[in-house]
Amino acid sequence: MMNKRMVLFCLIGLTFSVAVAVAHNNGKKEIILHGGKKGNITFPHHRHHDIVTDCMVCHKDFPKEPGALQASKKAGTLKKKQVMNKTCLKCHRARKKAGEAYGPVSCSGCHVK
Ligand code: HEC
Ligand code: HEC
Ligand code: HEC
Repeated sequence: MMNKRMVLFCLIGLTFSVAVAVAHNNGKKEIILHGGKKGNITFPHHRHHDIVTDCMVCHKDFPKEPGALQASKKAGTLKKKQVMNKTCLKCHRARKKAGEAYGPVSCSGCHVK
């Protein structure tokens, strides 16, 4: 039988875990992004968290919400291909130039039909 003290301890532990899970919503591991007529992009989100430790490198332009890119483009707060050119490709190209590990720089490297 658990005594009152143990129950209280468990409840505090549970509350703490839930609070941490809410505070650290890292989103999905992998996200399918809408790529228009070029075809969608399978984006390894969590792999980027290891490379880019500052979330705001990407999320400065759109919120941490599912479907944020499409919603922002529809609302006019983002231009089409803005994130692709100014965030994704900008980093991949700079890292390639610097001789570091880099992501795709050709259309078909990201867009898969
Ligand atoms: C390299 C760019 C990049 C970085 C860095 C990044 N994200 Fe994201 N994140 C995205 C993209 C792209 C989406 C998808 C938005 C959409 O669905 O239109 C996204 C979506 C999300 C979502 C929405 C839920 C989901 O998974 O669809 C959450 C939550 C999130 N990110 C949290 C984070 C956190 C926390 C960090 C930092 C630890 C982070 N992101 C760093 C690009 C990034
Ligand atoms: C590093 C990955 C990456 C590469 C390489 C890339 N794209 Fe994209 N592309 C994206 C992402 C992410 C989006 C959605 C966000 C945006 O519109 O900025 C996108 C969106 C698009 C769209 C749809 C825009 C819309 O809203 O209708 C087109 C068209 C497109 N890309 C064409 C291209 C072409 C052509 C090339 C090669 C010259 C290319 N892309 C290379 C990641 C990439
Ligand atoms: C600040 C740098 C940086 C930004 C911003 C960034 N990436 Fe990357 N990306 C990388 C690096 C570095 C790798 C290679 C990781 C590895 O080798 O494990 C990579 C890998 C990838 C891959 C994996 C290709 C494979 O081998 O499977 C894809 C797809 C990709 N990025 C798409 C994107 C898209 C789409 C965006 C924008 C929403 C983006 N990246 C933003 C640095 C970045």
